[in-house]
Amino acid sequence: MIEVSCLTHRYGGSDGSDGNGVSGSDGDGDGAATALRDVSLRIPDGEFLVLAGANGSGKSTLVRHFNGLLSPDEGTVVVDGTPVGDDLVAARTRVGMVFQEPRDCFVAATVARDVAFGPENLGLSREEIDRRVARALAAVNLAGRGDERIDRLSGGEQERVAIAGALAMDPDHLVLDEPFAGLDEPARESVLAHLLDLQEGGTGIVLVTHDLRDVLDHADRLVVLADGEVALDAPPASAADALDDLPIRRPERC
Ligand SMILES: Nc1ncnc2c1ncn2[C@@H]1O[C@H](COP(=O)(O)OP(=O)(O)OP(=O)(O)O)[C@@H](O)[C@H]1O
Ligand SMILES: [Mg+2]
Repeated sequence: MIEVSCLTHRYGGSDGSDGNGVSGSDGDGDGAATALRDVSLRIPDGEFLVLAGANGSGKSTLVRHFNGLLSPDEGTVVVDGTPVGDDLVAARTRVGMVFQEPRDCFVAATVARDVAFGPENLGLSREEIDRRVARALAAVNLAGRGDERIDRLSGGEQERVAIAGALAMDPDHLVLDEPFAGLDEPARESVLAHLLDLQEGGTGIVLVTHDLRDVLDHADRLVVLADGEVALDAPPASAADALDDLPIRRPERC
């Protein structure tokens, strides 16, 4: 269970919470930009939650709190009963994250070595690591390409390596921030199918996306952020009408 309570996050505030300066101000009067305002959300184990919202609405900021990449200015984020800041290793083991721009996050030169890095840090046996790497690469259509250099892959292929790296950690919750952005249709379909398989097996999925095609039919819940606040939190079926009034593209249907 991920429990977010009354979470507020400011970038570049006078409290120096993250050291990131911003030139603009949202009117808080101290030069801070409030990216999240009083957000509360409980994400039960095994849930498939889609997080949508316009550019700058706070989606990436919110999910970066789930494994302690950011810390709250106000409020709390608790994973399985433990505040994230109290045990970052536990939070990062339980909550796997695929970043919006994964290219700067690779730690090894080749595909298989990068995907193996997380499981290696869990202290697993070589056999189990190899099994997880092979399974994760197959899930993103990169089977047999483990020895290739990451810097020679296309952007979409690099995105798939990043997704494989998170899959190999076997997390309780898998958070993917715009994973479909650089993927072609076969890779998108394969990744989505694999996410659904994972959910069948009990893994919770938090999918941040503007691209709701095929996704809402499978999701348990749709949360939409607007200007750093929760504008909608409902089962997708009952959210259809509300989507018209929100700044996101509806799923296209034939
Ligand atoms: N490192 C940062 N420093 C200062 N402000 C930031 C930083 N990251 C995000 N922001 C600001 O916080 C707000 C929320 O940004 P965030 O990246 O969470 O939005 P998002 O919903 O993920 O947008 P997108 O759909 O474009 O990915 C925006 O106003 C953004 O300008
Ligand atoms: Mg984002």
